[in-house]
Amino acid sequence: MEVQKHIEQLEKELIGKTTEEQMASIADVFGREATFSSSFGYEDQVVSHMIFSANLGIEVFTLDTGRNFPETYKVWSRTLERYGKPIVAYYPDATEIEAFVSSKGPNAIYDSIDNRKQCCFIRKVAPLRRALKGKKIWITGIRAEQTAHREGMKHLEWDEANQIIKFNPLLNWTWDEVRAYVRLHNIPYNSLHDQGFPSIGCQPCTRAVKNGENPRAGRWWWEDQTKRECGLHVGAK
Ligand code: ADX
Ligand code: SF4
Repeated sequence: MEVQKHIEQLEKELIGKTTEEQMASIADVFGREATFSSSFGYEDQVVSHMIFSANLGIEVFTLDTGRNFPETYKVWSRTLERYGKPIVAYYPDATEIEAFVSSKGPNAIYDSIDNRKQCCFIRKVAPLRRALKGKKIWITGIRAEQTAHREGMKHLEWDEANQIIKFNPLLNWTWDEVRAYVRLHNIPYNSLHDQGFPSIGCQPCTRAVKNGENPRAGRWWWEDQTKRECGLHVGAK
């Protein structure tokens, strides 16, 4: 079936369902060919909870860039303990990251946008491609509120860059709804969220935001706002 038709048909199946029911439908249709990417932020913990607590057969994976906060490894471990389910870890190619860091140093990311993008490519984008290989649908924790670009995203869409259907189950959830869900279900969360970090990426590229600041202002804060993309979510059309 032509992919756009398939997406339209799936959209119809999801209408009128709760997010939990939508996740269950996706699991029924795709099984292990559905995969969810988690960076262990608030939103991702909500989606993991839905998958693990309902025993959905959807795979959960994370891209360990090697530059995460210690708090991120802590919530990763707590998630394994709480649910007793596997989380698949993907790592950057050793030869590529060795060449990059050996030639440019560990903090070259601050020197130029090219260096920063190269680091994101090696540590995130290339491992993502491996993680999505053989999968039919990629689930993310993206919300429309997060950026202007994400406001234009769809609940279900075709990701041209990765040649895969993408499902953003929390697209229309608000920050308050996400927090309330985490509290209601007592879901383990990254303790940095209580210290001014609404959005958490790699440690060298994330800082706390002040009250009233854009929630993503702490990501790649030294760069022009229009250039702040790591390359994971640029392929949808
Ligand atoms: S980013 O592109 O700016 O880094 P963001 O941190 O907002 O993305 O996360 C959006 C979604 O991308 C998450 O909900 C998750 O699905 C995915 N994601 C981001 N970083 C990772 C990671 N390190 N491992 C797995 N998934 C990730
Ligand atoms: Fe490298 Fe920063 Fe991108 Fe992480 S967010 S992969 S440290 S440039």
